[in-house]
Amino acid sequence: MQKYTTIARWYDAVSAEPVYGVGRRCAVPALGLRRGDRVLDVGCGTGLNVPLLRDRVGDEGLVVGVDRSGEMLDVARGKARAAGHERAAFVEADATRLTRADLGAAGLGPSDDFDAVIFTYSLSLMSDPGGAWDAARRLLRPGAGVAVVDMQPPTGAAVLLSPAARLACRVAGSDITARPWVTVEEDLHDVRRWSLRGGHVQVSVGRLTPQGRPGRPAPCARGG
Ligand SMILES: C[S@@+](CC[C@H](N)C(=O)[O-])C[C@H]1O[C@@H](n2cnc3c(N)ncnc32)[C@H](O)[C@@H]1O
Repeated sequence: MQKYTTIARWYDAVSAEPVYGVGRRCAVPALGLRRGDRVLDVGCGTGLNVPLLRDRVGDEGLVVGVDRSGEMLDVARGKARAAGHERAAFVEADATRLTRADLGAAGLGPSDDFDAVIFTYSLSLMSDPGGAWDAARRLLRPGAGVAVVDMQPPTGAAVLLSPAARLACRVAGSDITARPWVTVEEDLHDVRRWSLRGGHVQVSVGRLTPQGRPGRPAPCARGG
């Protein structure tokens, strides 16, 4: 994650938010968050989702961002402090091995589960997106909201923009072919999908099935 460590201070300026911000603005309202909810933001980066999430969960809720880059988190913390978001906490950890113990310092009690999780443009650049999803789902209550926002090559007429989209993903370190929402959706019900920016930005939002996928432990099985 050297790349994000190096560009942390400039990330918000260079991350093409006018193109990619549409994904978070679509996903967050679709999560159906309520005041007081606890929400986990995996691969939170500089915290671009935090104001949107915080508007939904209010002062009584909790937003916990997890990222592997301490420098990205420093930017996120600074922005949250400046905005007076006291109930936003940031944890430096590898999302593919995230455990409940990692989140103690963020104000998550030993028996607290999250009401929702969001991954925006993060799973497709992880070495083990399935592992990151498994780790997150162990921290969710049954029926929790789950949102994945990620990228694929543009479709239809927008296919002409494929070289630009591929270049953007290469620069970001993302695998444009990963389609990480496919694995996540296997554990969800009531899935809704949006295909934005000529199909390049994919949004998938659903609810965690109470029993999980056949052959897998129940979502809230504790143990890390
Ligand atoms: C493209 S940025 C997206 C940041 C933010 N979610 C957004 O929407 O702007 C991807 C982020 O994922 C983080 N990341 C990548 N692999 C990770 C891992 N294994 N564990 C935690 N964070 C990771 C990077 O450090 C980076 O901040």
